[in-house]
Amino acid sequence: MSQTNFKLKQSTRQLEQSNAHLKAANIRLAQAQSQLLQAERLASIGLLSAGVAHEINNPIGFVNANLGTLKTYVGHFLELIAAYEAAEHFVGNTPIKWNSITVLKNRMDWPYMKDDVLPLLDESQEGLDRVKRIVRALNDFARTDAADVWQPEDIHQGIESTLSVFWSQIKHRCELRKEYGELPAVTCVLSKLNQVFLNLLQNAAQSIEGQGVITIRTGCQSDEVWVEVADNGQGIVPTDLPHIFDPFFTTKPVGKGAGLGLAVSYGIVQQHHGRIEVKSEPGRGATFRVWLPVSPPTARS
Ligand SMILES: Nc1ncnc2c1ncn2[C@@H]1O[C@H](COP(=O)(O)OP(=O)(O)OP(=O)(O)O)[C@@H](O)[C@H]1O
Ligand SMILES: [Mg+2]
Repeated sequence: MSQTNFKLKQSTRQLEQSNAHLKAANIRLAQAQSQLLQAERLASIGLLSAGVAHEINNPIGFVNANLGTLKTYVGHFLELIAAYEAAEHFVGNTPIKWNSITVLKNRMDWPYMKDDVLPLLDESQEGLDRVKRIVRALNDFARTDAADVWQPEDIHQGIESTLSVFWSQIKHRCELRKEYGELPAVTCVLSKLNQVFLNLLQNAAQSIEGQGVITIRTGCQSDEVWVEVADNGQGIVPTDLPHIFDPFFTTKPVGKGAGLGLAVSYGIVQQHHGRIEVKSEPGRGATFRVWLPVSPPTARS
């Protein structure tokens, strides 16, 4: 009897174990499926973005050129009018319709208009530069640049050069910790990867209200290296997690974030045949880990 009991207990335990394994496998499967769906969605957004970027690029080109010429012309017009105004004294009472000129000037508020026209053009140029940056970001998200130079690079050097431009802006409120591992040279476009590191560091810094800590870790596993940027900031709510790589998804106030940093980073890492993993809990910070193959197939072909 006790023998049967023992066997029963044993098989129950085995059943429980295989049940637990099944559950874990199920969770992994669901995660893989949602990652696949996200990758597919982002790939189609990428195609759309590339099309939009291409279409917008052309009008931006000529508006930009015209704006430059227009500014030069307006500068000359203003100079010419100033010369005419200076000559007004010498004209005296010749048969010129001073009255109608004065009325015209008053009606258009000439003094204001004269001062406003160049700042207006400058502001338009700034707006256009912003559109240009967005289009460039959409392009980075969508495709590789033929001019990119792929070569073996020291990832730590990339991180350090990114830090040298970025760190001074936030060092007064963030503590930086580095936990670097040993890394082999990675075949990549380092300038592009630096953009990824910068975007991750910027997000980390922006997630921290007041004082905080940003930790950069690196490591290597078989033929891949990883770079991790972790912060102890506000974290990401679970419902936002599936959207953070979407172009234009942002939780930041208008003017603070365009929602392009992670989309661009995703595109760049994808071009390197790598991937980005995220772990985050609201209130407990976020950790972004970028995995990169040491020698990606793009560079080999
Ligand atoms: N380290 C982080 N901690 C908390 N939330 C984050 C972090 N990184 C990204 N996020 C969330 O993901 C969103 C998208 O990030 P992304 O970098 O793409 O855009 P952004 O930072 O809002 O704007 P941009 O990068 O264009 O200036 C952020 O608005 C924020 O909600
Ligand atoms: Mg960002």
